[in-house]
Amino acid sequence: MSILLTGGAGFIGSHTAVELISAGYDIVIVDNFSNSSKEVLNRLKVITGKKIHFYNGSILDKVFLNNVFYENDIEAVIHFAAYKAVGESVEQPLKYYSNNLTGTLVLLEVMRNHHVNHIVFSSSATVYGMDNISPLTENLKTSATNPYGYTKVMIEQILTDVAFANKEMSVTNLRYFNPIGAHESGLIGEAPNGTPNNLVPYISQVAIGKLKELSIFGNDYDTPDGTGVRDYIHVVDLAKGHVAALKNNLKNTGSAVFNLGTGHGYSVLELVKTFEEVNHVSVPFVIKDRRAGDIATCYADSSKAKEVLDWTAEKTLQDMMRDSWRWQSKNPNGYQS
Ligand code: UD1
Repeated sequence: MSILLTGGAGFIGSHTAVELISAGYDIVIVDNFSNSSKEVLNRLKVITGKKIHFYNGSILDKVFLNNVFYENDIEAVIHFAAYKAVGESVEQPLKYYSNNLTGTLVLLEVMRNHHVNHIVFSSSATVYGMDNISPLTENLKTSATNPYGYTKVMIEQILTDVAFANKEMSVTNLRYFNPIGAHESGLIGEAPNGTPNNLVPYISQVAIGKLKELSIFGNDYDTPDGTGVRDYIHVVDLAKGHVAALKNNLKNTGSAVFNLGTGHGYSVLELVKTFEEVNHVSVPFVIKDRRAGDIATCYADSSKAKEVLDWTAEKTLQDMMRDSWRWQSKNPNGYQS
């Protein structure tokens, strides 16, 4: 029996692949490498000592996906494959709705044809929208501020409806907070295409000299130092959260939702300062206007995952900053180096 990872060569998928293998699962990766590199598979082999079973193709291709299910005894799917750039989703909404929704619908149809009833989905804290107050609990009303976020809200709903209709189905929606860091080997990490949108990849590229300075988007928020506060979680902790969620999913039917965060918020300035201190590098910055769509504070109530999944994030902000920098400095051009 194998666990299928759609988008398994991506940032979170690749780290989850490592943790699943180390927990004794057999895995199959499907990825079309639209925002990832085949080099990830070589790196996974070095880390795990196992040859990675993978298929190069799109989950939008039903014939291809059917074949993957024919050739493998799939027990459950962890569904990472999706577009994820917020700004691009505002400019090209159809690209996002079409890829993220259709991909999920094709996957669910193929799963049904092969009587595979277990799915864990990569959702996001973005589904809490702008109006909820942190700490965010899973029972709050969901909404979104951009097409990317709406695809997460809609797919959570689709999965919940499918589990309601098919009593053998087990669905787990995982709401990630802000994943950063990298595997401590320095062999896999986040490799954004072009200029990074997210804070830590941006800081890393400033520190290595690829970018001149960090723009801090606003220092007049109602937070302790005026800069935005987020719940940053080490990607290896997040990956372990998937293993815990999968175990729970395999034992149950119905639908469940869990926050995967640390429950602690850190400001942009705290991140910059910690990154500089831990890594002995300098991160020059300028204060700019607020970024459209940003909120002051976002962090998880992480108690449900602790109680039900027996999972908590263990790594510190220092670990996250150190591991992000190790990955960046060993791989200045991501997987192309
Ligand atoms: C963003 C997305 C979110 C997505 C998540 C994935 C937006 C509005 N939200 O979350 O939907 O699920 O990434 O990881 O894009 N910052 C700077 N300078 C920068 C970049 C960021 O000051 O160059 C600040 C932001 O204002 C924010 C914090 O850093 O306060 C974190 O930003 P980011 O890493 O982009 O994550 P989110 O906006 O929380």
